[in-house]
Amino acid sequence: MAKILITGGAGFIGSHVIRLFVRKYPDYRIVNLDALTYAGNLENLKDIEDRPNYTFIKGDITDAGLIRQIFTDHRFDGIIHLAAESHVDRSIANPAAFVETNVMGTVHLLNAAKASWGDNFAGKRFYHISTDEVYGSLGETGFFTETTAYDPRSPYSASKASSDHFVRAWYHTYGLPVVLSNCSNNYGSHQFPEKLIPLVINNIKNMAEIPVYGKGENVRDWLWVEDHAHAIDVIYHRGKDGETYNIGGLNEWKNIDLVHLLCQIMDNKLGRAQGTSAKLITFVKDRAGHDLRYAIDASKLSNELNWNPSIQFEEGLEKTVDWYLANEEWLTHVTSGAYKNYYDQQYKQR
Ligand code: NAD
Ligand code: TYD
Repeated sequence: MAKILITGGAGFIGSHVIRLFVRKYPDYRIVNLDALTYAGNLENLKDIEDRPNYTFIKGDITDAGLIRQIFTDHRFDGIIHLAAESHVDRSIANPAAFVETNVMGTVHLLNAAKASWGDNFAGKRFYHISTDEVYGSLGETGFFTETTAYDPRSPYSASKASSDHFVRAWYHTYGLPVVLSNCSNNYGSHQFPEKLIPLVINNIKNMAEIPVYGKGENVRDWLWVEDHAHAIDVIYHRGKDGETYNIGGLNEWKNIDLVHLLCQIMDNKLGRAQGTSAKLITFVKDRAGHDLRYAIDASKLSNELNWNPSIQFEEGLEKTVDWYLANEEWLTHVTSGAYKNYYDQQYKQR
């Protein structure tokens, strides 16, 4: 019976990974460790919280003593590490928090895993979840592969790049059985509305301005979050020690085109005349150091582990919009209080 620690399981991607593992592997014990920052929300896990193979621990990965204790108490076979500060704009405003959680938190987990496993790594695995943003910014052409040189440009991506290096260092130096993946932008249900897609949905719903940075020409490669969770399942079980796998949707969109598509979908869903939502589009001051384009070559994962994205973007976006419209209470809950202050601060000077 495997016992797996999943960090950051109350966040966007983490909650999808927890849901998948808890349902698919009733014989595993899944422990979710999450500090419940502004981005962590146990409402995301309501449907599985009573399952006998699931346990939640509230705890901060920057607390080395606590992490050591949790590893001593639980004797995990595997770790899937997602806990992170994840928003680029927040990293520009407050970089130190990203170093603390993303770099130091990862090092504490690596240390605790190594200490708890001693020299016996048989059947053990430390899986680190990372981002394509570590590779920097592409021009109009080309793709990131697993051998693309790291070139992070935001405090967020610099902290994730640093954590990736530490994970690989524990593999080479101590033989810790690690595996990594670097994924493109995710979308789907339960994403905190500071990120582009849920922010646009929420603003359209409220007939508020849609802030598009710069000219909206930046390109992102969007992946359905459940496809990411599935890739994580495949890599956790069948990836090779010491390897990195890129995960992407082969689905590049300029921000402005994506925003127009969302406007059309929302006009349909809300019964508004076509063109109503597009009038809300407002071009605002660009993000500092805004990466132009991300695009992933995921052929290694496809060829070696037979993973491929499952759903078309238009279908995934419709499902996403449906979820946000059906879960008004969730949206109201997470956009009140502290988030409102963040939003006012972040967008007032743009
Ligand atoms: P998120 O911000 O929605 O969730 C992060 C979770 O981590 C939250 O539940 C939060 O409470 C928890 N957390 C934060 N700091 C913590 C700490 N110090 N101790 C314990 N828990 C803490 O993030 P997400 O979008 O779900 O991303 C999850 C992971 O996937 C991150 O490592 C991120 O870098 C990576 N990633 C995200 C994307 C994306 O598009 N969202 C793409 C590629 C990779
Ligand atoms: P985001 O969802 O923050 O993800 P990332 O920066 O990690 O790719 O942003 C996606 C794209 O949308 C990015 O190019 C920045 C842009 N963007 C806006 O134009 N307006 C916004 O209000 C936000 C949050 C993002």
